[in-house]
Amino acid sequence: MSNNNKKDLRSRDWFGKTGKDGFIYRSWMKNQGFPSDEFEGKPVIGICNTWSELTPCNAHMRELAESVKRGVWEAGGFPLEFPVMSLGETIIRPTAMLYRNLASMDVEESIRANPLDGVVLLCGCDKTTPSLVMGACSVDIPTIVVSGGPMLTGYFKGKKIGTTDVWRFAEDHKTGKISDEELLEAEGAMCRSQGHCAVMGTASTMASMVESLGLSLPGNAAIPAADSRRKVLSHESGRQIVEMVNDDLKMSKILKREAFLNAIKINAAVGGSTNFIIHLMAIARRMEVDLELDDFDEHGSNIPLLVNLMPSGDHFMEDFYYAGGLPVVIKEMSKHLNSDVITANGNSLVENNKNAECYNRDVIATLDEPFQEKSGTTVVRGNLCPDGAVIKTSAASPELMQHKGRAVVFEGIEDYKARIDDPELDIDESCIMVLKYVGPKGYPGMPEVGNMGLPKKILEKGVKDMVRISDGRMSGTAYGTAFLHASPESYTGSVLALVETGDMIEVDVNNRRLHLDVSDEELERRKENWNPPPHEFDRGYVNLYIEHVEQAHLGADLDFLVGKSGSEVKRESH
Ligand code: FES
Ligand code: MG
Repeated sequence: MSNNNKKDLRSRDWFGKTGKDGFIYRSWMKNQGFPSDEFEGKPVIGICNTWSELTPCNAHMRELAESVKRGVWEAGGFPLEFPVMSLGETIIRPTAMLYRNLASMDVEESIRANPLDGVVLLCGCDKTTPSLVMGACSVDIPTIVVSGGPMLTGYFKGKKIGTTDVWRFAEDHKTGKISDEELLEAEGAMCRSQGHCAVMGTASTMASMVESLGLSLPGNAAIPAADSRRKVLSHESGRQIVEMVNDDLKMSKILKREAFLNAIKINAAVGGSTNFIIHLMAIARRMEVDLELDDFDEHGSNIPLLVNLMPSGDHFMEDFYYAGGLPVVIKEMSKHLNSDVITANGNSLVENNKNAECYNRDVIATLDEPFQEKSGTTVVRGNLCPDGAVIKTSAASPELMQHKGRAVVFEGIEDYKARIDDPELDIDESCIMVLKYVGPKGYPGMPEVGNMGLPKKILEKGVKDMVRISDGRMSGTAYGTAFLHASPESYTGSVLALVETGDMIEVDVNNRRLHLDVSDEELERRKENWNPPPHEFDRGYVNLYIEHVEQAHLGADLDFLVGKSGSEVKRESH
């Protein structure tokens, strides 16, 4: 069913105009050298680019845009590339997450305000994917995602390395196992090609998410950025978006609740990042799809782990691609997946991947013989987190899933940094480290500090893991028994804000419980003496963010951005 009836294209409301308005809409565009017939009813395809030299993971995306354009031209469309705010995870202070919602506003308004019939979203580094998808959802025109692809695997002293090794290097450097010079050499060895983090961190998780939601062509998640097949996928996506416009295949036809449940299951099977939860919740709420934190536990916590990738396993995204990539995982998972929801090419997810072949069973397991029986994220509750906290069980220590320990409390990340390696700090490996004020409002922006490193004196004993609790996030490249996203956050005066060093905390993951053993009367007494720590933001975006950001269990979007406004703009610009 072709809808490419010239009058139906929203771009006609600009370029199809006659008289003065049409003249103005077209004339200035012609300074780029476009012939008149480009404006006569071709689907106009926006290429929304997060290219930036300050986002190294996306720095190659001008090249990918050229491949997308070839595909668009070839299919009879008219491609126009435009930049949006780009968030470089490693550089932006205080945390890229603070700006995810701001970038999504840029994307939403840029799409709606311009004469676009369809959009290709070029994204890669962690926050660039959710910000683009969230913004596009609130407009809801045909949209396809092309991820930038992971870096090639790094090699250091003959060993494969990737982002997860940053945490190991930091520990080894702390305990003197590697020197300053070796650390410097490792820096260059790890990031040796274009692309995003080469492990199943947040960027790869997001690339897998868009593929499993059906927002990209099959195979999007794993093709390395430096592989020419990444350009082939870009080219094909350029062709496909024109088809999608012809068929009016807009986001709401793809992003049904069942597509979100498929994505939750596949994320569990690949051992994806905990950030997946926050971003998928935010996307669902933009799309007005009913999704709750408990869906992640109900649909995701009984799924076996099918990939052996860092940080939960041994291999890298490049190995994943050579083993067959996400299509193999989807095929393995097919009996758990909904096969009615359609994807960007009009077929269902199961249909698209039914012929996938696995070339390396050490990287992708079968459903019958998984790497772990249960993966995914578990949602716990208790007085410490009445609205939930999450733990990525595949990256945690089984022996700490049931534990009782004495709290060692840090009143903020600066307090943690100042005291963690103090030999006098009264802490041993049975203690539970609690970090406050790193939630959405409290930091602000909910940084990835929830996997706070262990004290030096404990690392020196050879201990690798301890229980950690916070209202912050954890990098998708990190590991450890970390309870994250505790909601409501401590900055709101929740029980998490009232924990004191020496209190006992009970952890019981099987029974989904995280409990502070302090009486309600005592907590009430503490609450009376509690005041939120002061923050220094009284103007601008950050102030707006603190006032309007929702709690983690809802996706940490700004309250006024939830939902969508559609693509219509009723007023002329002249
Ligand atoms: Fe960009 Fe890891 S820093 S993906
Ligand atoms: Mg990250």
